[in-house]
Amino acid sequence: MKPYSDRRARLLAMLEPGSVAVIGTAPEVARNADTEYPYRHDSSFYYLTGFAEPEAVLVLAAARGASPAQAILFCREKHPESEIWDGYRYGPDAARAAFGFDAAYPVGALDEHMVRQLSNASALYAPLARGGEAQQRRWFDGVRKLARGGTSAPPVLRDLPPLVDDMRLFKDDHESAVMLRAGAISCGAHARAMRFAGQHGAGIHEYELEAELLHEFRRHGAQYPAYTPIVASGPNACVLHYNANNRRIQDGDLVLIDAGCELDGYASDITRTFPVNGRFSAAQRALYELVLAAQQAAFDAIRPGRKYHDAHDAAVRVLAQGMLDLGLLQGALEDVLAEKRYAQFYMHGTGHWIGMDVHDVGLYRDTAREDKPSRLLQPGMAMTVEPGIYVRPAGGVPEKYWNIGIRIEDDVIVREGGFQLLTGGAPKTVAEIEALMK
Ligand code: GLY
Ligand code: MN
Ligand code: MN
Repeated sequence: MKPYSDRRARLLAMLEPGSVAVIGTAPEVARNADTEYPYRHDSSFYYLTGFAEPEAVLVLAAARGASPAQAILFCREKHPESEIWDGYRYGPDAARAAFGFDAAYPVGALDEHMVRQLSNASALYAPLARGGEAQQRRWFDGVRKLARGGTSAPPVLRDLPPLVDDMRLFKDDHESAVMLRAGAISCGAHARAMRFAGQHGAGIHEYELEAELLHEFRRHGAQYPAYTPIVASGPNACVLHYNANNRRIQDGDLVLIDAGCELDGYASDITRTFPVNGRFSAAQRALYELVLAAQQAAFDAIRPGRKYHDAHDAAVRVLAQGMLDLGLLQGALEDVLAEKRYAQFYMHGTGHWIGMDVHDVGLYRDTAREDKPSRLLQPGMAMTVEPGIYVRPAGGVPEKYWNIGIRIEDDVIVREGGFQLLTGGAPKTVAEIEALMK
């Protein structure tokens, strides 16, 4: 399994000589009696292993003296009876062969193995924020019991995620290909929901559109939605994390759908906003064109060497000018920006990293520097571009805009000279949407 063994080798090369890194996958979580939530592996564990079973731990031992570096998997043993109920499990031997580990053992042998691994090791790397202190204490206690034989426990405990997160931030060819496919499936789902609304019109429920999305995700092999789909009609579109999805959609409403599938461990994250009856009103259209222009301004600020936050600043400037032009705000542009008065109608950021997690890992600022400047974009970084406008009823706000909520969201990967759009297949201009819904 090439991409995974390459990643392990790159991480091993970053570890201190003589050190050991440990990372486990996610636990299974009960939903209620005898029922579990669908199992989802830990993203970083999967990034380094490609192994999707629960109850698994990866140990990376950096080269120590004459001993070469080693990648060792601990996983569930074969269990014929459990496999009748719950399905195939690799077991250590088949997992080692299939996933290219140097060794694999039953997960029950982890403690005993770690006492040996940590004896005289230079450092232990682990995801410190995840807990696991009790387990580490057991390992360190075990090592200390060997002290009279001249063995010592690692003097240093280091946080593993900063190393893995920065690897995950830069998508390799394998990841880019999966993300492009996830984007294409999600675009198809948005187009399908628009077409359904075009056919059935006002009177349908938000959940009927959600069902169209889920059908399209699954029929193309996507395992789950990457996050709970938002299908928000009328005033619900002004609730940023709305996901009850149970309102009957009224004639003249806009529908904001924020939904993306997860395919083979990678998220997509797309928002489209369209009129349920297939035609934008003049007020809806004015705000829609403004958000579209803001997204274009953000796109224009995405290429290697630009700051991560430039895209947001560019979108905000366009939105703020538009709010003045349309009478949502009064005053001078520079004052609106300095006082952040646009935040009455645009209160979120214009994007985030995206990858295995929809809000993916990776730093947005150079935290090593005192002034913490925005990070510079580099090829391989994947991000969303998602400006919006949300007009809640308020004094001084023209009534024709009340309860209109619009967001337009796409996913890109930064490339030499610009970016690659992963989500180009979902209708987006007023003309494209109205044509599809006819
Ligand atoms: N769907 C979550 C987001 O747009 O960030
Ligand atoms: Mn989204
Ligand atoms: Mn997003």
